[in-house]
Amino acid sequence: MKFKGVFLSMLSIVLLGSCGMDKETFIESNLEFADQQFTNAINETKEDIDLIPRTIKEDGSLKNVKKYNWTSGFFAGDLWYMYKLTGDQKWKTEAIKRTEVLDTIQYWSGNHDVGFMIGDSYGLGYRFAGIKAYAPVVVQTAESLIKRYSDNTKAIKSWNYRKAWDKKTEWFYPVIIDNMMNLELLYEASIISGDDKYSKIATQHALTTMKHHYRKDYSCYHVVDYDTITGAVKDKATCQGFADNSAWSRGQAWGLYGYVLCYRYTKDKQFLDFAENIAKYILDHPNMPEDLVPYWDYNVFDKGYKAEWNYDPNHKLIGSKDASAAAIASSALFELADQTGNATYREKAEKMLVSLSEKYKARPNNKYFILDHSVGSFPHNGEIDVPLSYADYYFLEALLRYKESK
Ligand code: GLY
Repeated sequence: MKFKGVFLSMLSIVLLGSCGMDKETFIESNLEFADQQFTNAINETKEDIDLIPRTIKEDGSLKNVKKYNWTSGFFAGDLWYMYKLTGDQKWKTEAIKRTEVLDTIQYWSGNHDVGFMIGDSYGLGYRFAGIKAYAPVVVQTAESLIKRYSDNTKAIKSWNYRKAWDKKTEWFYPVIIDNMMNLELLYEASIISGDDKYSKIATQHALTTMKHHYRKDYSCYHVVDYDTITGAVKDKATCQGFADNSAWSRGQAWGLYGYVLCYRYTKDKQFLDFAENIAKYILDHPNMPEDLVPYWDYNVFDKGYKAEWNYDPNHKLIGSKDASAAAIASSALFELADQTGNATYREKAEKMLVSLSEKYKARPNNKYFILDHSVGSFPHNGEIDVPLSYADYYFLEALLRYKESK
């Protein structure tokens, strides 16, 4: 017995990357830091919980959003992950409050982002705390979301009408790669309701996206615009990436995560193969830095890519990394490792997690978020090299997947 105990404790002292911590200590120290930062964010917004933390301003104060912003579900989601990871009731109490301010989103069909807004708040409350009243909210949200699906395009419309960067090209049915992240909510709605209409639309959307968003090398366009009547592709472009033909880093991560989740629900091997090909594109990319935290676009320094936006090559932050892209990819790779049994994906996911924890943590002026150094949208000159609530959300999700992995 004694010998077995010694052997087990030796096993647990497997040091993580260069940080030299064992797994448990690594997780604990990240949770301790998250506790401090989220406690500050909760205290700062407790008088008006309609204000939802998203990032910080230059002076370090919180920049909040209202509930119809696409990022409104992540703060509640962060708190649900804290509850799941620590078991501490205080996080559950607060997560419930921050979830229920989003109540009316379930009836909203104004854009596609309800998967993030409701899936990451009500969806997690249902999964982690078994709150039964949240299940119909997930189903009602799916009902609102599928109003944006059309049999002509065989895809869910992401945004409403808008123009491309050239200010001439009009998009009537723009679908962005980020939309893959809504499919989880649809699959969950089918499981809850027993009605497969949501999952059928999710699977069809994934198939359409495979066909039109992806290039031969398994990188993807950010935006594909469809003819609303014939369903023909009218434009392939970017909105937040460097160039129309480049690989915007967060978009590659959304796609990877999206196909991994499609395989989780459908067990259709073509989704697994597709996810592995995207993973290969990301992990083997010649511009992927050693620490596996990508620049905000894989092609930002490459020839052959022309920016349509007001591009300043001397912008002092042009070489910014995007921690959010690494956090999303890390979480997806943990799941891909389980699905394939390929330990390399777990090693890469761990490496991303350790890099984020060691080198991309909040700077001293960031009192509210775990991570720093993400990029919201470079072309819009918005949120460059800052903390973002969704980077923290996927970091915590990756931490949980890491904790639960063997
Ligand atoms: N879904 C918007 C973004 O990734 O910036």
